[in-house]
Amino acid sequence: MRILSGVQPSGELHLGNYFGAIRQHLELQHEGDALYFIADYHALTTVQDRERLSRLTREVAASYLALGLDPAKATFFRQSDVPEVHELTWMLESVTGMGLLERAHSYKDKVARGLRATVGLFAYPALMASDILIYGSNLVPVGKDQVQHIEIAQDMAQSFNAAFSCEVLLRPEYRLSPTPKVPGTDGQKMSKSYGNTIPIFASGKKLKKAINAIVTDSRDPKLEALDPDSCNAFAIFSLFADEAEQKELAQAYREDRTFLGYGVTKKRIKELMDEHFGPARERFAELLKPKSELDDVLEAGGKRARALAQETMSRAREAVGMTQRPVQP
Ligand code: ADP
Ligand code: TRP
Repeated sequence: MRILSGVQPSGELHLGNYFGAIRQHLELQHEGDALYFIADYHALTTVQDRERLSRLTREVAASYLALGLDPAKATFFRQSDVPEVHELTWMLESVTGMGLLERAHSYKDKVARGLRATVGLFAYPALMASDILIYGSNLVPVGKDQVQHIEIAQDMAQSFNAAFSCEVLLRPEYRLSPTPKVPGTDGQKMSKSYGNTIPIFASGKKLKKAINAIVTDSRDPKLEALDPDSCNAFAIFSLFADEAEQKELAQAYREDRTFLGYGVTKKRIKELMDEHFGPARERFAELLKPKSELDDVLEAGGKRARALAQETMSRAREAVGMTQRPVQP
């Protein structure tokens, strides 16, 4: 089984990315041939600053390795090390009706939030479909917001195979994590673009500040019961805490009128995050140093991924009637 997923280097990774995507990626590396990549071409739709793009790319790479990606198991690479992905994108676009992309939520949402309506932003799902199909991926682990993109990739694979009477592209399926929609500090979906994130590699004061920004209601625990089910801090706490601890805190919310309130939950979130991510934070800092193993990992991953992509492309070129091999300069 081939497993594939990508993450954009468009900001600091946060709890939503971790519990919605990364944790699942790390688990799945033991269950099949996993390929994970840093979607730097995709990030160009929003990051247009060379220093920032290259820094964020290294940061995403360091995050995955620090959190437990094993380069002996999973192929880890930069999207831009496989330029063939654009060749397939074009072929897919040529067999895709405008309506399919016009219905995509992510473009409409991004434009509604003030991003410039570029061609790249509009065609984003075609590049993403190509990412998936060029490696013959069977399974794509993602968060809920990406499901429509996988469905678009399914449609495009089918349109391509039908148009050229071939079976070159495989139908991919998505897999959601058990926590597909992690709430942000304001209760909406946690997302860089909403400014409501808790970054996983922050520590000390910065982390405390992010956690303290979690919005809670104004109930006074001395006078009335608190409601764990509607409490955002409780939801974030539950991502880490085991069942026994969740039960205990829920009971304090409901029944204990000496309970000190939401500050207790926030303090516990900080402790749990320090426990959970502490060792990875140190490794993260090490990996970010110049000439760390990170660069070798990405280079080796890029080579393997590109070889796989070239195999698919030679079949795709053949299928569309470009039967000559590309000339060598
Ligand atoms: P952001 O919304 O911060 O820009 P991305 O779109 O780069 O995040 O998401 C990277 C991965 O993390 C995707 O697979 C996405 O589904 C997942 N993800 C992002 N935010 C969340 C969230 N709040 N809950 C669950 N998964 C998320
Ligand atoms: N669009 C995804 C996101 O914003 C990133 C991505 C690009 C991706 N190509 C992909 C995810 C292919 C899965 C498969 O999170």
